Amino acid sequence: MDSARLRQTALAMVANHKGLLAMDESTPTANKRFAAAGIPQNEQTRRAYRDLIVTTAGLGRFLNGAILVDETLREQTLSGKPFPKALAEQGIIPGIKVDSGAQPMAGDPGEKLTSGLDGLRERLAEYAKLGARFAKWRAVITIGPGIPTRSCLQANALLLALYAALCQEADLVPIVEPEVLMDGDHDLARCTEVTELTLHTVFHHLVTQGVMLEGMILKPNMVVPGQRAPHQNSDEEIADATVRTLLRTVPPAVPGVAFLSGGQSGEQACARLSTMNSRYRGRLPWALTYSFARAIQQPAMDIWHGEDANIPAAQKALLHRAECAHAARKGEYTPAMESDQTNEG
Ligand code: G3H
Repeated sequence: MDSARLRQTALAMVANHKGLLAMDESTPTANKRFAAAGIPQNEQTRRAYRDLIVTTAGLGRFLNGAILVDETLREQTLSGKPFPKALAEQGIIPGIKVDSGAQPMAGDPGEKLTSGLDGLRERLAEYAKLGARFAKWRAVITIGPGIPTRSCLQANALLLALYAALCQEADLVPIVEPEVLMDGDHDLARCTEVTELTLHTVFHHLVTQGVMLEGMILKPNMVVPGQRAPHQNSDEEIADATVRTLLRTVPPAVPGVAFLSGGQSGEQACARLSTMNSRYRGRLPWALTYSFARAIQQPAMDIWHGEDANIPAAQKALLHRAECAHAARKGEYTPAMESDQTNEG
């Protein structure tokens, strides 16, 4: 394990007020999103869509890294360049999602456990040769009556820690992603309680497994009320609850916290991230940035619709969302940025 390289990569992933793009939808998830956007679901369209993303000129101004899937890491862009190379040419560090998805837990209806440790050491070595410098593993925590259970939290946290230790052994920075889902009608206090317990449990296991905290990135949910909650809190309340929860659980040695968007719109995710960064400027031990998928990609996917003629407009929308996220990282996002885009269009 090369500790200096791990630290350097982790810092580079959150440097210069930039963040990450998750473009690591599994084939079933990519197909589901394509179906919703009226795009044919096959390997050619997935490759064409990912080509559209990585060939967006200027994307490197707003992104330090992009998370790919196995399929894309091995493929070439339409002009014949390996995807990791095309990203690297934009100054974007390539990473790779390495878990194999979340399956129902035995005996715990409604809860899930992420799989993917089998053969992971060998896959990580291969991914490093293919150009990846970091990896990602997502655990899913659901809030509901009687859940999450202790056993679900403990098992998912242990798997995240075992994955992270293997990544560092292979000199890949682990993104540790314990996602408390927004599904449900729970309030902000319940999400706060579950997120705090989740992060405590995750860091307990990371430390137990000897994971070097300076060489990892945390990818958590923002602390938000359930999507069906009758009362939706203000951006300020969400920013305060999220930062307070992180301060109680995330050691200062961790260089960066890169949020998932989790079903928030691009506008919501940027407004809340920006509020955190403006309210707590200079007072936090880690960078607070983004590792959004839908909150950066969704408008571009909808505009593209699988048609070549729509590529320029889709790339413009992608660049705009990435620019908004970059502004949020600096605490400078305002809703006016959205109308500026509309006017330009
Ligand atoms: O694993 C989930 C992705 O990395 C983040 O996706 O921003 O759409 O929640 P999202």
